[in-house]
Amino acid sequence: MSKIFVNNSGPLMGEVEISGAKNAVLPLMAATLLTADECVIESVPDLADVSVMKKMLASYGAQVDDSEPGVVKVKAENITTVEGDPELVQEMRASTMAMGPLLARCGRVVQPMPGGCTIGKRPIDLHLKGFRSLGAKVIEEEDRVIIEAGPEGLKGDAIYLDFPSVGATENILMAAVLAKGTTIIENAAKEPEIVDLANLLNKMGAKIKSAGTDMIRIEGVERLSGAIHGVIPDRIEAGTFMLAAAITRGKVHVKNAIPGHVRPIISKLKESGVTVELTDDGIFVDASGDRELVATDIKTLPYPGFPTDIQSPFMAFLTTVKGKSVCRETVFENRFMHVVELNRMGADITTENREAIIPGGKKLHGAKVRATDLRAGAAMILAGLVATGTTEISEIYHIERGYENVVKKFKALGADIVKVDED
Ligand code: UD1
Repeated sequence: MSKIFVNNSGPLMGEVEISGAKNAVLPLMAATLLTADECVIESVPDLADVSVMKKMLASYGAQVDDSEPGVVKVKAENITTVEGDPELVQEMRASTMAMGPLLARCGRVVQPMPGGCTIGKRPIDLHLKGFRSLGAKVIEEEDRVIIEAGPEGLKGDAIYLDFPSVGATENILMAAVLAKGTTIIENAAKEPEIVDLANLLNKMGAKIKSAGTDMIRIEGVERLSGAIHGVIPDRIEAGTFMLAAAITRGKVHVKNAIPGHVRPIISKLKESGVTVELTDDGIFVDASGDRELVATDIKTLPYPGFPTDIQSPFMAFLTTVKGKSVCRETVFENRFMHVVELNRMGADITTENREAIIPGGKKLHGAKVRATDLRAGAAMILAGLVATGTTEISEIYHIERGYENVVKKFKALGADIVKVDED
């Protein structure tokens, strides 16, 4: 098992270029199943999840050409099966993204629900609610879900989402583009990744209006064609490097970041005393000098609120500022696994239900910690940069799922970080 070792690094300095967004590229790749024509996706990050998605597209019969770095060409001329490969589905929750396109194109999809997970525990109920509204029959079995459009195909409808789920909005969008008539998604997710997906679908010939608002309108079309599309920059990676500057009291130019996508992070960093300036091609974050950074509370919310994916990296930062902060997680039920790991490093954080209290002002020390999930892994790197001694991070496959060249990028900013491959 590979590990990442991080030593106390002093202030990070320099510039870092943000890659294409993981959470955008996965649905974009899934959308290529909607057409028999070739689609070309550019600015594709080199990530483990992207590799899984390539394998998944191939498993459905698509031809995937990734010979050019950063570019994925997909031609799904023939869909050879509509049954998801349970092993690939197990590897990545975003494999559910194939449901909408396959249902729309082939009228049927069989989605494994791996590991005996019931739908209740790992819910896709809103995705299924959307498909049902479009006229599909949903058969829930113990370890798989079968969704069938019936002889008439899918038919547009008004769908209200009880929660603005990103995945459900994307799946319903991809199903509705080929449905007959008009679909309206109410209380839709507004994330930039939804807008990116709608932009690709519209290039393919779809008729989607108002993506990025909470009411998306889709006029179904007969067929879609190929398109070329570049992935938006990763706002979560951008936020992580903004925090790398903040936690180390450094100065980092986060190039390619889109300020409008990271407003709450900018705002919260400023509140705690960090200087954030917009540049022609990104965001400059300066926490250097002997200024005192202070506590600030955060509450995660669907976009445009504070992103849940930045909650754990931000918490790592808050352990180092003056005063007590409160982090409230409202999007996911169980997203404080990193607290145990930060406490191994001396953070002294307490949790109650969905609230974490961070006393702040702590001198962290290196420890053996786990990357309990992708973003928690990023939090461990950040904490390791300012902890005394060495932080040894295990289970780093989580980090590699979503951060391109993570060690190289941190190193270029002056971090003392190394990946060690162990058997
Ligand atoms: C996406 C992101 C993930 C991010 C999350 C929230 C991708 C590949 N992943 O995940 O990084 O943390 O958005 O910003 O884009 N829910 C239901 N029923 C459903 C669907 C979701 O109850 O049918 C619940 C989930 O359990 C969770 C909440 O809604 O508590 C948010 O989930 P959702 O917005 O769907 O997140 P994902 O699309 O899975």
